[in-house]
Amino acid sequence: MNKHILTTLLSAAILTASGAMADTTELGDTGGLSSLRGATPLQNTRPADDMKKYPREQMLESDYVYQPPLIPHNIRSYEVSLNANKCLSCHSWKNAKEMGATKISVTHYVNREDAVLADVSPRRYFCLQCHVPQADAKPLVKNDFQRVDSLKTQ
Ligand code: HEC
Ligand code: HEC
Repeated sequence: MNKHILTTLLSAAILTASGAMADTTELGDTGGLSSLRGATPLQNTRPADDMKKYPREQMLESDYVYQPPLIPHNIRSYEVSLNANKCLSCHSWKNAKEMGATKISVTHYVNREDAVLADVSPRRYFCLQCHVPQADAKPLVKNDFQRVDSLKTQ
């Protein structure tokens, strides 16, 4: 075989091989690894999970002292903004009795200087910073967290 043709063929083969290698390190390749978002490459949007159910009939108990209780109801479209706080329309001391809801506790009136205010403390205004709805969801990663002894029922 002509030496010149051989070199051309060889370099073509090398180019193809390095092209294939470059492919595996591209952004889209997860290299066979799967994360919490599955094996979907980063630049692709994977389909959203189903909406979680917020079962009303169960009331998950606290796992540690001073845990913000979980929300045992749906909170979809409940506005909490500068203009309105839907949560307080049921949970404020003024409305709780009529709405059959638990009143926010006294700690929600204390500011960071430990002064008790006449209305909800600004640091307790954005309820969802601390309270999350209880969902019928499996833990995404293994969790060995144990309830504190003082709250263990069995
Ligand atoms: C329409 C009235 C209403 C609104 C609005 C509302 N809740 Fe409730 N919430 C209730 C009632 C009633 C309960 C008592 C449990 C039940 O019957 O579901 C409750 C229970 C709770 C509890 C559990 C209290 C406990 O004793 O452990 C938390 C926490 C809570 N809600 C937080 C919120 C937050 C945060 C918002 C706003 C995103 C909100 N709720 C909006 C009516 C309401
Ligand atoms: C900085 C965190 C934080 C924010 C913000 C917050 N909470 Fe709480 N909440 C707690 C903690 C912690 C508890 C349990 C200890 C206690 O009662 O203070 C609690 C308790 C409660 C309870 C149960 C009270 C009881 O007597 O059992 C209700 C109802 C509640 N919060 C509603 C709300 C609502 C409504 C908002 C928004 C206006 C809100 N929380 C904002 C941390 C927070």
